[in-house]
Amino acid sequence: MLFWRVKPLDKILETAEKKALKRQLGGFQLTLLGIGAIIGTGIFVLTAEAGQKAGPAMMVAFVIAAIVCGLAALAYSELASMVPVSGSAYTYTYGVLGEAVAWVVGWALVLEYAVAAGAVSVGWSGYMNGLLASAGISLPDALKTGPMDGGSFNLLAFLIALVVTGLLVIGTSKSAKVNAVLVLIKIVALTVFIAIAVPAAKDANFQPFFPTGWGSPLGGIGVLGAAASIFFAYVGFDAVSTAAEETRNPNRNIPIGLIGSLLVCTVFYLLVGYGAVGAIGSQPMMNAAGGAIHPGTPELAAACVGSDALVCSKEPLAHVLRVMGFAGVGNAIGLAAALALPSVILMMIYGQTRIFFTMSRDGLLPAFLSRVHPKFHTPHVVTLITGVFVALFAALFPVGILADISNSGTLFAFMAVSAAVLILRRRDPGRRRPFRTPMAWVICPLAIAGCLLLFVNLSMYTIGLFVGWSIVGLVVYALYGYRNSDLGRGLTAAEGGPTVAPEPPFHEGPQA
Ligand code: ALA
Repeated sequence: MLFWRVKPLDKILETAEKKALKRQLGGFQLTLLGIGAIIGTGIFVLTAEAGQKAGPAMMVAFVIAAIVCGLAALAYSELASMVPVSGSAYTYTYGVLGEAVAWVVGWALVLEYAVAAGAVSVGWSGYMNGLLASAGISLPDALKTGPMDGGSFNLLAFLIALVVTGLLVIGTSKSAKVNAVLVLIKIVALTVFIAIAVPAAKDANFQPFFPTGWGSPLGGIGVLGAAASIFFAYVGFDAVSTAAEETRNPNRNIPIGLIGSLLVCTVFYLLVGYGAVGAIGSQPMMNAAGGAIHPGTPELAAACVGSDALVCSKEPLAHVLRVMGFAGVGNAIGLAAALALPSVILMMIYGQTRIFFTMSRDGLLPAFLSRVHPKFHTPHVVTLITGVFVALFAALFPVGILADISNSGTLFAFMAVSAAVLILRRRDPGRRRPFRTPMAWVICPLAIAGCLLLFVNLSMYTIGLFVGWSIVGLVVYALYGYRNSDLGRGLTAAEGGPTVAPEPPFHEGPQA
């Protein structure tokens, strides 16, 4: 029986009531929170990756990824507004599809959050190395990138992940005001880029437009392969739903935050993509057989030695401006990325610990993981464990591979959420739905189909890792979660799991 141990939605809501966080975020702050979590390595770094996979047609990839995310966001909004509690896709599937599926989704979310934190750390290191170089300081090449990218150990990516982990352990909860400032920095940086690059666009740079075609399943190249990668640039909007427990009037504000942040980012991304391609071109590096070389491989690293191509840059937006002769502005954009990206890492590691916390609260993970530090009031154990893994991923893997692995988990979670919306419409039609997905019977199947399309266009390597990770997860569930779950043991919300919630990630200042 697949859909066993469904946790009644009322019980989930009751758990949230009992262990509630302070509700203090409004619609505008949620939109800012969403933009803060969304704009990061995707647009600042993976633009090069998308160019390598699709050439100028990466702009089409941006549109495809945005449409898939938009569809998924509409599904997310219905569940997030109905079940405004922590845990995002994991919690929703627990309430609709049952414990086993929820476990697999929670396990996949580890890829979404922890691996994404690693990817953003690597992205940060690219800009930081560029900034250091412009100041005449250079690390040895072996310490600039991981082994698959021509180096040995990405020192800066490793260090930033550890620093952010340390901040989370001592309870650095990002204030809404700090987030607003960082969002402003990112928006200004992208606006300046657009203002300089877009007017300089030349028709010739868009030719040939489709150098790698649409791509084929498991190939990880072509427009669909690029869309599957650049999807990463939009990930994070669901962080809005993980803040549901801290939101005022979540029924109205969560959908505003999700869809609003996605719309703003899409407009920026399209203009940035157009500017980057138009200003200096983005033709892929080809191998001897005439095919595009896979990003994140030693082969591409070797082909890129001494090249000025966009697709070779680890800091593409700064690079475009430098090539155009605006070195100072390029460095300023690099500085903006260096300042703003750590907040995305923080959001991602935070999101991960929150999901582990919720799973532990449900008895599916050992209670020690949700131990709360007596002085800092943070879930320090799970934060430290997560942080060390993130730092190691970041040190050893290229940004594109980490982003693709993260996407595999996210796409899977989105499919589960979209299915859950439809199942719940059938099973519990009378339940109050403050936000209803419009034309759900069209939108949700399209969301599932879109996610599936992107999923199968990831590389075989990525999909293999996803399958392996899921199998490990099922073994862990069979050996631990199945026996220890509160629901399985018949515990009530009040008896099960830890009773102290960690600090919320956002606050508007001193709490009353
Ligand atoms: N969307 C986030 C980024 O691009 C994860 O960094």
